[in-house]
Amino acid sequence: MKIAVDGPAGAGKSTIARLVARHLGLRYVDTGAMYRAVTLAALRQGVDMSDEDALLRVATSMDLNIVFQGEKGNVIYLDGEDVTALIREPDVTAHVSTVSTHKKVRDFIVALQDQIGKQGSVVMDGRDIGTVVMPDADWKIFLQATVEERAKRRQREMERRGVQVDMGDMQEQIRKRDYLDSTRENSPLKKAVDAIEIDTTSLDVAEVVQKVLDLVQGEA
Ligand code: DC
Repeated sequence: MKIAVDGPAGAGKSTIARLVARHLGLRYVDTGAMYRAVTLAALRQGVDMSDEDALLRVATSMDLNIVFQGEKGNVIYLDGEDVTALIREPDVTAHVSTVSTHKKVRDFIVALQDQIGKQGSVVMDGRDIGTVVMPDADWKIFLQATVEERAKRRQREMERRGVQVDMGDMQEQIRKRDYLDSTRENSPLKKAVDAIEIDTTSLDVAEVVQKVLDLVQGEA
C-alpha cells in the first residue's frame, strides 16, 4: 500500500506519517529531510542558494543514506555522518524552501524518491507526493492547520530541544515558507484533486493517526 501525506510546514506530516507507517508495518520516508540534507551540505560548502547548477552539484556529489528505524523514523546520513538532528537546525530551515525551488535539484531528489516508491509499500510525506512523486498512491492525505497552531507546535518542538523562539517570528517564518512552497514554479505545494484533507488544528496526534488509519483500513 502506498500512502502520500502532504501539507504545509508544521501541519504534523512527519509525526503522523511515521506513526501511521508503524501501525501498518510500512516503510516511512521523510522527503523534506532529503531537501534539508542538500541544504546542509550547501551551507557547509558556502554555496550560493540561488546558484541552481552549484546546488545540483552538491546534491549529486553527496552520499545520502536514509535508514528506516521504525520507532525513531528516518535516520539521515550525509557522507557517513548522522545529520538527523543537524538538518532541523534553524539555519537549514531558513534556507531549505529556497533550495527546493530549483528544478534541477527537485528533479534529482524526486528521481531518488521515485526509486524508493517503486520498491513497494511506503508512507511518504512531503509537499508534492500526491501530485508528482506518487500520483498513483492508494491514499492521499492532505494535512492542514492554521498558521497560529502550526507556529505553536514548532515553538513547542524547539523548546523541547532547549531553544526559545518568539511566537511572532515563528508565525512569520511559517507564512514565508508557505508562500515559497506554494508559489514556486516547480511542483508547488498543492492538494491533489483526489486527496482527503484533514484539518488538524484542534486534533491531537492520536486523533489524526486514528482518522488516517480508519480511512485506509476502510472504517471511515
Ligand atoms: O517538511 P519539511 O519542513 O522538512 O520540508 C522542508 C522543505 O523542503 C519545505 O520547506 C519544502 C521542501 N519540500 C519539498 O519541496 N517537497 C517535498 N516533498 C518535501 C519538502
